[in-house]
Amino acid sequence: MKTLKTIAASRRWRAGLDSKVVLVPTMGALHHGHEALIRHARGIAGPSGSVVVSIFVNPTQFGPKEDFASYPRPLASDLAITRRAGADAVFLPSIGEMYAADKSVTVNESLLSATLCGRSRPGHFEGVCSVVAKLFLATQPTHAVFGEKDWQQLAIIRRMVRDLLFPVTIEPFPIVRDADGLATSSRNAYLTPAERNLAPRIFDAMTQASKLKTPQAIVKNCTSGIKKIPGAQIDYVEAVDASTLHPLSNRKQIGRLAAAVFLGKARLIDNVHLPLFA
Ligand code: PAJ
Repeated sequence: MKTLKTIAASRRWRAGLDSKVVLVPTMGALHHGHEALIRHARGIAGPSGSVVVSIFVNPTQFGPKEDFASYPRPLASDLAITRRAGADAVFLPSIGEMYAADKSVTVNESLLSATLCGRSRPGHFEGVCSVVAKLFLATQPTHAVFGEKDWQQLAIIRRMVRDLLFPVTIEPFPIVRDADGLATSSRNAYLTPAERNLAPRIFDAMTQASKLKTPQAIVKNCTSGIKKIPGAQIDYVEAVDASTLHPLSNRKQIGRLAAAVFLGKARLIDNVHLPLFA
C-alpha cells in the first residue's frame, strides 16, 4: 500500500493508472463501517482497478465549538485497517497541503444544506463540499464511496457532482451497525459505558416509529421514544423526502427519518428508510 502525503504524489500515482480508481474519503479513526466501505470500493475497483482511501480531519467542516482538536487520530491502526481492507493507496495530506493560508474559494450547496444537520451546524456542508471537491481533484477518482450513515452528506455530494459536472460516479453504501443496532461512528468513542448502553435505543425508537403511517405520527412517536432515554437531548427528528430532503408531507414519495441526538459528549446521527405507504 502506497502512502501519498502530497497532492503532487497523489497526482503522480494517479497518472500511472488507466483502469477504475475508487476513492473512499474519510477523517480516519476508522471502524467497521469505514472498513466495509473500503471493501466495497475494492469490489467496485476489481482486480485491475485501484482503491485510494483519504484520511484527513478537515478543519473547515468543524464549527468553532466542535471537536476538531480532540477528534481521534489513531494513525497506526487506521493504516492497518486500510491495508487489510485492500486499499492500494492512502492519501494523507497535511492541512497546509490542502488549504492555502489566504484561501478565498469554497464550494457551497445552498438548498439541501439548509436543513437537518446544516441548520444546527452552519458552514459544515460548505466545509464538506469544499474538501470533497479538492479530494476529487487531488486523486481524480472514477468512483467515490459514501456511507448512507451521513444521508444528508450523500445527497449533497450527489448534487455537487451533478451541478459542477464532476466526472465521478457516487457509490452509496448502507449503514453499518453494531449488533445492538447502534450505527458505528468514530464519535461513539465519546460515550461512557452507560451512555453506550443507552445509545441503541435511538435506533429502536426510529425503527418503531417508521412503521406508522403519516410523517407527523412518525416524528411524534420517534420524538417521545427518544425523550424517554435518560440524558438524551434531541437536536432534530425529521421525516424528509429521501432525495430532496424537503419535509415529507405524505407517503407517496420515498422518505427518510433522520435524527440527531446529543448523548453526553457525543452528537449521534442516524436515519432509517421510509418506504412508500399505500
Ligand atoms: P467520516 O465521518 O470519517 O466518514 C467517512 C465515510 O464513512 C462517510 O462516507 C460516512 O458516511 C461513512 N460511514 C461512517 N460510518 C458509517 C457507518 N456506520 N455505516 C456506513 N457508512 C459509514 O464523512 C466524513 O468522514 C467526512 O465528512 C468526509 C466525507 C471524509 C469529508 O471530510
